[in-house]
Amino acid sequence: MNTIQTCYSPALFPLFKEENAIVVVVDVLRATSAICTAIHHGVDKMIPVAGLDEARKYKAEGYLVAAERNAIKQDGFDFGNSPYHYIDEDLSGKTIVISTTNGTQAIEAAKDSSTILIGSFLNISAIANWILQQERNVIVLCAGWKNKFNLEDSIFAGALGLKLIQSGKFNTVCDSTIAAGYLYERANNDLYGFLEYSSHRNRLKDLQLENDIRYCLTEDQMETIPVYMDGGLVHMSKFEVVNP
Ligand code: MLT
Repeated sequence: MNTIQTCYSPALFPLFKEENAIVVVVDVLRATSAICTAIHHGVDKMIPVAGLDEARKYKAEGYLVAAERNAIKQDGFDFGNSPYHYIDEDLSGKTIVISTTNGTQAIEAAKDSSTILIGSFLNISAIANWILQQERNVIVLCAGWKNKFNLEDSIFAGALGLKLIQSGKFNTVCDSTIAAGYLYERANNDLYGFLEYSSHRNRLKDLQLENDIRYCLTEDQMETIPVYMDGGLVHMSKFEVVNP
């Protein structure tokens, strides 16, 4: 039997670290949904960076760079954090550097882990199915908001936790996974409605980004799983060539 745990903040991740565990990083609204969409639509690699200074250095070297802070695309960069920026066949085969308020901070916190998957509602069943073929423990790392708890990443953790536990191959002794499961059971008939009072749904709503929210809350739109390899996020098929 393998275990699943849920870490609600990158700041807490050192408490959860476990050798050989699979870490699923999630920032439903919107960084990991945008990364899944980009890789699914043919972007070759996304290089996550935590700081804007590092992002600027890549920009000066001629890279395509996405940079978002507080849900707003930063001046001088090519893209923001909307998944819709990455549904563009001209980006096929390209490398894009990305820096976001929370999502890339969570990836940075996890970066020494042996396997890091990028999760979202868009690819949640693909993630669960891939994990079920491994014999390894799982930690869901919620990006949250500036190291604080958020609802949308937590309901993702609950949804994934329930899928794994209901398979009979996983159990949990982690109260945060149990709590996340309860939240998902409350939310699951209407994820958008459940988030009515959540801070980031309202932040995005104020910026007229409701289409982004609805898209990011749509389950199972793709089989694509981005995975961290050699400092970048690539399609799982590339990772599996190196780690069969
Ligand atoms: C982040 O990484 O903090 C988020 O994805 C913020 C956003 O919605 O742009």
